[in-house]
Amino acid sequence: MSFIEWRSEFSVGVQEIDTQHRRLLDIINQMHEAMKMGGKAGAVTEVINDLIGYTRYHFAYEEKLLEGTGYPELEEHRRKHRAMVAQVEAFRSQAKTGSAAVSLKLMGFLKDWLTRHILETDKRYSAHLTGYRAA
Ligand SMILES: [Fe+2]
Repeated sequence: MSFIEWRSEFSVGVQEIDTQHRRLLDIINQMHEAMKMGGKAGAVTEVINDLIGYTRYHFAYEEKLLEGTGYPELEEHRRKHRAMVAQVEAFRSQAKTGSAAVSLKLMGFLKDWLTRHILETDKRYSAHLTGYRAA
């Protein structure tokens, strides 16, 4: 069983975004595997870089879509995205020490953040986007 399993309730009703969210879960699951294998600090930092790179791409995609459709809560959503990237970057600097405690904290943070962000924050734009497309 993976560290985070996809659940149907994660769907925001927009296929491309669901696909990107699944990809994020995959990267986090890979990171978990790398850490379980007693991954060296270098390997862990590398997968954190992958995560940051893909997260930036995904957030930019989401924000562009929300901006283009005039989503009223975009600014707050954007702030949450920025705060998440800043937090993972802070973990990346700490992960360079190779500390297992940092790895554990990072994984806990990612699991909580991603599931809560999708279920609470992303779900808020679901009706807006699906309604926009139907209109
Ligand atoms: Fe989001």
